[in-house]
Amino acid sequence: LMDGPLKGRHVLVTSGPTHEPIDPVRYIANRSSGAQGTAIARALAALGARVTFVTGPAEVAPPQGVEVVRVETAREMLAAVEAALPADAAVFAAAVADWRMAEDVAQKMKKEAGGVPTLRFAENPDILATVAAMGDGRPGLVVGFAAETERVVEHATAKRARKGCDWIVANDVSPATGIMGGAENAVVLITGAGAEDWPRMTKDQVAGRLAARIAAALG
Ligand code: C5P
Repeated sequence: LMDGPLKGRHVLVTSGPTHEPIDPVRYIANRSSGAQGTAIARALAALGARVTFVTGPAEVAPPQGVEVVRVETAREMLAAVEAALPADAAVFAAAVADWRMAEDVAQKMKKEAGGVPTLRFAENPDILATVAAMGDGRPGLVVGFAAETERVVEHATAKRARKGCDWIVANDVSPATGIMGGAENAVVLITGAGAEDWPRMTKDQVAGRLAARIAAALG
């Protein structure tokens, strides 16, 4: 562990997409690369934190110097998060699938069965909201993300209230920004004190600045 302002602190970070099986050989996924969550975990570790990094099947390799917990589904991610607590702070950067299949399908669905399948969905647990609603054992600082395409501050402020988290890191992911899948990010940090516009910078710089803010908040 590195020396720094977060020495002695435990921070949990979720990152990457989740995969939700359709049958034993197929799944539903999303395009999250895990880049921003990985950068945040790396930046927190560089400030001395002990980091538990709970990651779905991401494109980007996990950082060095953190405890990596690999999961596939949203429900596995929630269980891994609960197992990793307590933590002084938790950052939820994962792109968790909103839905999974309503039923487990034990065998491969066969084209030869005829017709086309109809997929029935069930809602996944909201990991961020679950942790933010914890009484005893709630991390002192709970940080969520919000990807918006319009009225970013308004939507992210509402999300902060709905999820019960302390901060929301909001970004504008409309295609014109080039942020989705790119190296840069332009975020607004929503806290209890209001909205703070950060200039456009690299995802590594966003991570460094967020880690420093977390260190300052934990004191
Ligand atoms: O509701 P929405 O998906 O826009 O919220 C985004 C935030 O909530 C992110 O911080 C994400 O990691 C978290 N989240 C979660 N579990 C879910 C859905 C979202 O932790 N099932």
